[in-house]
Amino acid sequence: MPLQYTTNRYVGSAVAAAYLASETDYRAVLTREFDNVTPENEMKWGTVEAVRGQYDWSGADAIVRYAQTHRKTVRGHTLVWHSQLPDWVGALPADELRRVLRDHVTTEVKRYKGKIRAWDVVNEIFNEDGTWRDTVFHQKLGEGFVADVFRWAHAADPHAKLYINDYNIEGINPKSDAVYNLVKTLRRQGVPIAGVGIQGHLSIQYGFPGQYRENLARFAEIGVETAVTEADVRIPTPPDAAKLATQAEYFGRLWDGCHAVRKCVEFTTWGFTDRHSWVPDVFPGEGAACLFDENLHPKPAYFRLNP
Ligand code: G3I
Repeated sequence: MPLQYTTNRYVGSAVAAAYLASETDYRAVLTREFDNVTPENEMKWGTVEAVRGQYDWSGADAIVRYAQTHRKTVRGHTLVWHSQLPDWVGALPADELRRVLRDHVTTEVKRYKGKIRAWDVVNEIFNEDGTWRDTVFHQKLGEGFVADVFRWAHAADPHAKLYINDYNIEGINPKSDAVYNLVKTLRRQGVPIAGVGIQGHLSIQYGFPGQYRENLARFAEIGVETAVTEADVRIPTPPDAAKLATQAEYFGRLWDGCHAVRKCVEFTTWGFTDRHSWVPDVFPGEGAACLFDENLHPKPAYFRLNP
């Protein structure tokens, strides 16, 4: 039975519009196994408005259309991120940046109103030690930009679940503490934040994050959902049976932890096939991080989630 029917969580994958259009086998496996899709790059600011005032929604539209045709939910990714940010945005003075940010959030969220289940509103705003990341948004607008963008997004689509998203916040550590404290504060202030996205980019070389379940549970206690939004487990290449077994164990622990906490509502992987993965470009010597191999055959990790 395909993965999507084995669980009462949303189970998704990041997807690239280009492969969806050009690779029939890629499209078939995605359609069969998953019930949520996250555009890997197509909704980022640098994609939709690389040049000021010139919008390109083609990739995002194609993915949303695919999702609607196949009755999949969509996780929107991502409205505010320091990376893949067009240069022209970084160059704006504070007052103009605020106006432009508001327009960007409102335009994008409205365009897909009613078609996005959850949005990664802000992405990766903290450093590993829990301090704020030094971005143009933080520099020019201060910490208040976060509450602002959540409010603007909520006004544009009141039914979409709005998330803060980050990596290395699977376990309890200074960075996840910072997210926890911020979410608590925002909730107290009535800011419409519904959830915390835990990316889940793991490597078998660094060990499994400590206190993962406790971390999910503490977010549930303050009333927010969690989602594993970008799971993958990279291994030193080439893969062998032992590495694939460890990878399966890591995927399994991520999956089981999410299923152990009622408010963990989604398990999404960052791509599903080793044929297309961001990992080897960024971590030379590592890769094979997905549930399916390059030929779209399920790997041990897949059978760990779907025995
Ligand atoms: O589109 C251009 C293409 O025109 C050009 O020929 C090519 C040459 O390198 O680059 C293409 O852009 C690349 C883009 O992906 C689309 O393929 C960028 O160089 C590349 O940097 C970009 O990487 C993406 C990365 O985010 C950017 O930081 C990855 O695909 C994407 O998987 C990755 O996703 C992030 C999440 O958004 C946030 N969390 C971490 C995750 C992994 O880094």
